[in-house]
Amino acid sequence: MNKMSSIPQIGFGLWKVPRQSCAEVVYQAIKSGYRHLDSASDYGNEVEVGDGIARAINDGLCSRDELWVTSKLWNTYHAPENVGPAIERTLNDLQLDYLDLYLIHFPIALAFVPFDQRYPPQWLFDTNKPELGMQTEAVSLSETWFAMEKLIGTGQTRQIGVCNYNTGLLQDLLNYARIKPAMLQIESHPYLTQEKLIRLCQLNHIPVTAFSPLGALSYLELEMANQNESVLQQSVVKAAAQRLNKTPAQVVLRWGIQRGTAIIPKTSKPERLLENLNILDFSLSESEMIDLNNLNANRRFNDPGVFCEKAFNTFFPIYD
Ligand SMILES: NC(=O)c1ccc[n+]([C@@H]2O[C@H](COP(=O)([O-])OP(=O)(O)OC[C@H]3O[C@@H](n4cnc5c(N)ncnc54)[C@H](OP(=O)(O)O)[C@@H]3O)[C@@H](O)[C@H]2O)c1
Repeated sequence: MNKMSSIPQIGFGLWKVPRQSCAEVVYQAIKSGYRHLDSASDYGNEVEVGDGIARAINDGLCSRDELWVTSKLWNTYHAPENVGPAIERTLNDLQLDYLDLYLIHFPIALAFVPFDQRYPPQWLFDTNKPELGMQTEAVSLSETWFAMEKLIGTGQTRQIGVCNYNTGLLQDLLNYARIKPAMLQIESHPYLTQEKLIRLCQLNHIPVTAFSPLGALSYLELEMANQNESVLQQSVVKAAAQRLNKTPAQVVLRWGIQRGTAIIPKTSKPERLLENLNILDFSLSESEMIDLNNLNANRRFNDPGVFCEKAFNTFFPIYD
């Protein structure tokens, strides 16, 4: 039986960790004390994540049951018959027998792309014909959820949940789910506090993980955010950092866990691994928490309604 019945509040995010360094970064993350890894088929580095985990376990840094590994079902695998093969591929790549948590990555069903044709398939239906854009598939989220539920029975994952659902989709999911979602993973940082959605989760006892907990930083390299949108530059963040003798990043991450969400910061820089983990030995004051809450601007950086049109020639909004 897995020792981990609940998710460690600070995890390590694996999106955009380059394949060449990924196994080493994962190994160093585990060595630094991370016990929660946030992976996904779509990140294209699960083989390397698996190598890093295997090396860490072989070297005795931790056992499998001391790790929490999350992965995600990609959009092209929503049809019920593709859900089993998708988790199987992820488990093979990660060299694991089971996941701790498997999430529906987006409430977006795209046409199936065979595994041997392209993996991970990403967003475009045919990369040789980008003008065709994304191709959707008529699969309801309830069908996908029922297929996810079966993975609990097969033992391939301990828990299941969803990402990027809004309040309406979540309310509906609660109506049809036979197994309730064990997690909602959403973008959240001081510029996107998501108060209604998080309150709805609290009411229904659904834990929340905040992705992109540092806000704009992840999106600068993708040209989906501007330099001047970094929350680390905010005077209230800098003032708290100075008072506490911490870095602005530590203040923003501390805000994330102090409000009760799990966070999954990513870094490719070894020196930042510990910085992002060492946020348990101090607290923000009540007024600092309020000051950071007040930075909310409903600024969403990861918005398919914006990036799918720019990058994939397809207008595909999921948030109003
Ligand atoms: N479910 C979903 O749809 C979804 C979407 C997005 C993300 N996620 C998950 O959430 C994880 C985290 O989100 P994210 O990667 O978008 O963003 P993030 O962790 O908030 O930010 C990562 C960015 O911040 C920089 N950074 C990290 N630590 C720092 C520090 N201490 N000081 C200054 N800069 C720092 C990193 O640069 P360096 O690498 O150079 O350090 C990188 O550019 C992802 O890796 C992924 O696992 C899930």
